[in-house]
Amino acid sequence: MTEKQLIASKLAAVLNDLDQEAIEKLLEKPKNASMGDLAFPAFSLAKVLRKAPNMIAAEVAEQIDASDFEKVQAVGPYINFFLNKSKISNKVLGEVIAKGSQYASQDLGQGRNIVFDMSSPNIAKPFSIGHLRSTVIGDSLANIVEKLGYNPVRINHLGDWGKQFGMLIVAYKKWGDQQAVEANPISELLKLYIRINAEAEEHPELDDEAREWFRKLEAGDKEAVSLWQWFRDESLVEFNRIYKGLDVDFDSYNGEAFYNDKMDEVVELLEEKGLLQESQGAQVVNLEKYGIEHPALIKKSDGATLYITRDLAAALFRKRTYDFAKSIYVVGNEQAAHFKQLKAILKEMDYEWSDDMQHVAFGLVTKEGKKLSTRKGNVILLEPTIAEAVNRAQSQIDAKNPDLPNKEAVAHAVGVGAIKFYDLKTDRLNGYDFDLDTMVSFEGETGPYVQYAHARIQSILRKSDFKPNPEAAYSLSDNESWEIIKLIQDFPRVIRRASDNYEPSIIAKFAINLAQSFNKYYAHTRILDDNPERDSRLALSYATATVLKEALRLLGVEAPNEM
Ligand code: ARG
Repeated sequence: MTEKQLIASKLAAVLNDLDQEAIEKLLEKPKNASMGDLAFPAFSLAKVLRKAPNMIAAEVAEQIDASDFEKVQAVGPYINFFLNKSKISNKVLGEVIAKGSQYASQDLGQGRNIVFDMSSPNIAKPFSIGHLRSTVIGDSLANIVEKLGYNPVRINHLGDWGKQFGMLIVAYKKWGDQQAVEANPISELLKLYIRINAEAEEHPELDDEAREWFRKLEAGDKEAVSLWQWFRDESLVEFNRIYKGLDVDFDSYNGEAFYNDKMDEVVELLEEKGLLQESQGAQVVNLEKYGIEHPALIKKSDGATLYITRDLAAALFRKRTYDFAKSIYVVGNEQAAHFKQLKAILKEMDYEWSDDMQHVAFGLVTKEGKKLSTRKGNVILLEPTIAEAVNRAQSQIDAKNPDLPNKEAVAHAVGVGAIKFYDLKTDRLNGYDFDLDTMVSFEGETGPYVQYAHARIQSILRKSDFKPNPEAAYSLSDNESWEIIKLIQDFPRVIRRASDNYEPSIIAKFAINLAQSFNKYYAHTRILDDNPERDSRLALSYATATVLKEALRLLGVEAPNEM
């Protein structure tokens, strides 16, 4: 129960003319803390009760069950409620201490599956910042729904099929060098791809060759398949290095190629349902009634299938395989039209579960305010960038704490955490400017700031002899600890809000708030000094560290105990 709900329920027991929900909406936060935590304005009752608001306030305040409050007081037309901070802090701290990292875990999902289509880079192409965003946002959302009792399934829908593989095969056969590809798979394959595209402009017959090789690939030709397999394996070695650095795992790498033998069924189903139309030799589905102007192209005139055909097959396969409660696509906003089409087609096919599909889009990353563009050389190469972030974290740690044990592991946690945190604290539909200096800074709304707050609390706890005891009575009633208690108490709701909105930024902002509130408390309170409140202050510190660590874990960010 929230505090508003608690107060509203007590008021509702006395007021016959208003129900709890209506009362909740009327409650106000007084401008001045000396007027209590929440106030009920009695004006709204004056008409019905035909009495002066001041009188109503005084009478109601008399009748209220005040056992959960420090006091309930009528002041003019207001009834002011002062929450019993000692009692509430005791309850909240006790709960965190009893449950540890399980605090705020919930069973909304009852083990049902939620599928995340995430990361999904393209074979033989560089892993872009867009793929980084998809990886990091998808992984965090998967952690968040898991905390709510769902079973997340992380699927990497690799871009490993399409005519570009015909291009690549032709280019490799003409100019390729096995050793060079093995040494630097993606950059070598990319070079070949760029070269063949450039040459095809003057020699269109290369395009025909490529189409022919892709046809062979689709038909299972041995040479085509083995080259394709090799390109895929080599690229995955590189991608897996990135995933390892980011500490992200997948349950499946079934990408587009996996659906090669599953598309006939989709086309047949569409045909049976009378949804396919012919347009200039191609097969399309008209989606005008969904306000979608362009028909969806399912099969080209030469029989080739498309990106969306594979996505249709994937959606059917996932429903059958995982019987998902939700199917989430974490993909950049520039593909919004594609996912609208995808959902609309499945809806046309009468699959009610298409309503459970959700495109979780995100905005673009810029560098020095400019759009990223491979062609213009404004690129962010992921591996060196991660290494650089770790380096910068390492030099800050060297300056702050030169004798730290496991410095390398901590620098990794801080550097990678900084990139992830910065991405996740941004409202996902907004883009952001990629600036390592800002990301890795220990000051400001950053990952290292939150990690450092956590490590500082761990250091306080190490210096104390504090043993958390779920049976003990820990209570605090000052205003600064109250800020922290309120945040900790709110954590379960914060997680639900993040999940409902597919918005990890809600958790990141919560973590920043909690770290800031604790730092304010720490600046004013001598936690370790001999004092009757010492144990309660330590319990508050312990609970804050527990919740900070769990919030960071939901973001996929580690919380080292020392830094
Ligand atoms: N490979 C695509 C790209 O890099 C993203 C795939 C997204 N997932 C999907 N099911 N379409 O743009």
